[in-house]
Amino acid sequence: MTTPLWDKPGAEIDLATMRYMAGRDIELDRRLLPHDIRASIAHVRGLRSIGALPGADADAIITELRTLADDVRSGEFVLDDRFEDGHSAIEARLVDRLGAAGGRVHLGRSRNDQVLVAMSLYVRAELARVRTLALDAACAALDRARELEHVVMPGYTHLQRAVPSTAGLWMASFAESYLENASLLRLSAQWFDACPLGTAAGYGVNLDLPRDAVADELGFARVVVNPMHAQACRGSHDVQALAALWQVAQTVRRFAWDLSLFASAEFGFVRLPARATTGSSIMPNKRNPDLAELLRTLAAEVGGRIAELIQIVSLPSGYHRDLQSAKAPVIAAFEAVSAAMTLVPPLIRDLECDRARMRAAIEPAMLATDEAVRLAAGGMPFRDAYRAVAERLGSLTDADADRSVRERVSLGGTGNLGLDILSRRIDEERERRLADDSDSDAAERT
Ligand code: ARG
Repeated sequence: MTTPLWDKPGAEIDLATMRYMAGRDIELDRRLLPHDIRASIAHVRGLRSIGALPGADADAIITELRTLADDVRSGEFVLDDRFEDGHSAIEARLVDRLGAAGGRVHLGRSRNDQVLVAMSLYVRAELARVRTLALDAACAALDRARELEHVVMPGYTHLQRAVPSTAGLWMASFAESYLENASLLRLSAQWFDACPLGTAAGYGVNLDLPRDAVADELGFARVVVNPMHAQACRGSHDVQALAALWQVAQTVRRFAWDLSLFASAEFGFVRLPARATTGSSIMPNKRNPDLAELLRTLAAEVGGRIAELIQIVSLPSGYHRDLQSAKAPVIAAFEAVSAAMTLVPPLIRDLECDRARMRAAIEPAMLATDEAVRLAAGGMPFRDAYRAVAERLGSLTDADADRSVRERVSLGGTGNLGLDILSRRIDEERERRLADDSDSDAAERT
């Protein structure tokens, strides 16, 4: 490992202890490095603009940081355990290439605000990525809802057959859930739209840093004003991001649950694409819905990461090294959700529905509610209608299932799914997503 940044007379460096304290930083900081470099460039520009760095040094540092970013992208530079963390690697590279001038990069900042800004940029980018995936899933579900709009299937409560419903209503429910998840991800990103850079170790610095301009360059809507608050955001704001991810995972879980039930021989409503199933090592007849089952664990994983974060952030004011441990759960949750959500839209698209099996699961008694409502709409008190229908359940016929779903016409019901409304909302949310993209592209170009 290279000499740590904090080496000084009297410092004692024991390799085993150092490695323990570095924890998983090297591996995790690989995700943060591009963001850390980008923020370093903005920081150096800020220093130059207030005359704290001579133009020539600032230019040389910025050029070298850009080269480093390219090298990271191409794999030419790999963050490894020569370094304590990503921050040390950046400074070491600059000093190595530029000598004393390179070392000037750390004027007016601390690793505390450096890691905060890198994490904020990372979380913002990852929230946007998951948001796109959630919108893809919403679109896929909406397309299937249109295709299956009039396909009759049972509607269940308590997992008991309740009333006739449609596969269209089932699919549209996921379109709306994923759409809502996407808007929650957008709102949650606002928590990370504040730039902590310039708050240094948590108490500011004796320089007049152009904090607003640096925030602007990095595409942040505002600055975190109070440096101690900036430190307090770490970990606890991450809980908010992971709560939004959990909502996505919860939609995935409901879908996965339905699939594992509906793909069973007992229901036989859907056939999963072959790629989403596996065989058994002993039972030649088996075709198992492993993908759906593993997707079902996503919410457990994210929930577990939230629990871990909540425990870690039990701290007094100020920076504490405990906060380093907040990185792993955040990155793990984003990676798990991104990986799962990449597979969800194609799974929705390629799902086969067995219309005959769905239809065959309708039993005449499921028309009872419609009948009771019909009588009550004709003037009978609902409780009397309910009892009257209960007494002649045997006389109902399932031939009326199509009528039943057709007549459920209040908005959202099987006869009026409101797909155009959902489609418009999805489009609006997609437009917002694209607008954000052009904002961050503009920020990156500066
Ligand atoms: N790896 C550290 C973290 O994630 C970087 C900040 C170190 N700061 C400090 N004061 N030791 O928190």
